[in-house]
Amino acid sequence: MSTRKVAIDGPSGAGKSTIARRVASDVGFRYVDTGAIYRAVGLYTLTRPLELHKMDIEIGYDGAGRQITRLNGEDVTDAIRRHEVSKAASDVSALPQVREFLLQRQRDAARRHDVIMDGRDIGTVVLPDADLKIFLTASPRERARRRWEEMTARGETMDYRSVLRDMENRDESDARRASAPLRPAPDAVIVDTTGNEWERSVAIIREIVTERLGL
Ligand code: DC
Repeated sequence: MSTRKVAIDGPSGAGKSTIARRVASDVGFRYVDTGAIYRAVGLYTLTRPLELHKMDIEIGYDGAGRQITRLNGEDVTDAIRRHEVSKAASDVSALPQVREFLLQRQRDAARRHDVIMDGRDIGTVVLPDADLKIFLTASPRERARRRWEEMTARGETMDYRSVLRDMENRDESDARRASAPLRPAPDAVIVDTTGNEWERSVAIIREIVTERLGL
């Protein structure tokens, strides 16, 4: 039997990972965060030149179902969340050879399990035959505020204005790159989470997923 696939795309800070993780756990699907593998490539390039054949990136899951990312055998799950890695990940994600290198890996992740996969081009490129495509968005100010709160909670010190500026720059390059730019698939359901409490966004997405997939 083929697996069921839900694609969630949208800009950073729209709430994709928080919402997708929660809904996946509620409906018993596996959550796949594809940004993590771009981040692993970005992390690699902070200290070494980009040489894809020297990179072994693996996605696994711990006992609690949390996604674990390994780069050449090393657990980089926490390291890839650092602020400087976000910029590096955005830079490498514009390179067609990086996208091509990561494409099969992402498709493989959806082959054996029912998945909710989040990213930027899941509905358009990675899983064009997904059972459901959702494009999640929110205003830039709100997305920057969420990112800033996450960073502050982790003890990273950065002012809100810089977070907003960096986010706007990254949105711009993610949307303008020639290779798989960020845009909603024509058949995506567009959901704007601006002003919503988490619970409300989770409930909205859960309802769309259960209704459309007949769960
Ligand atoms: O979702 P994130 O912030 O962890 O993603 C990190 C970077 O990777 C971001 O700049 C966009 C890019 N990305 C991508 O181009 N395609 C994906 N499917 C996922 C992430």
